[in-house]
Amino acid sequence: GARGMKKITMEEVQRHRTKADAWTVLGGKVYNITPYLKFHPGGVGEIMRCAGRDGTVLFMEIHSWVNYELMLDKCLIGYLLGDSARLL
Ligand code: HEM
Repeated sequence: GARGMKKITMEEVQRHRTKADAWTVLGGKVYNITPYLKFHPGGVGEIMRCAGRDGTVLFMEIHSWVNYELMLDKCLIGYLLGDSARLL
């Protein structure tokens, strides 16, 4: 739930950009997508393009119909802090 969720800077997100430790931002929410990588129907290489950065635009360009909030609910680790937040 939202309560107790961490506020995370973009600088912190950028430190997590490897397959062993991949974070991304979607709609202002920060997700640890590491456990999901191997299940991505589009392949690991594709989803890794959003690792360590804000993946919102890329994600929406490819598959805006995919409900990432539902899918990645267990991967939610916090919210992007401050003016680095990028919403569509
Ligand atoms: C397909 C989830 C990020 C590229 C899919 C599908 C899901 C999904 C559920 C199947 C969609 C369907 O069949 O209707 C996710 C999640 C992501 C993510 C949860 C982020 C955390 C990305 C990114 C890219 C990408 C960043 C590209 C840069 C693709 C491609 C397919 C696909 C190309 C089509 C695969 C195919 O049907 O051959 N993704 N995706 N995805 N995804 Fe992602």
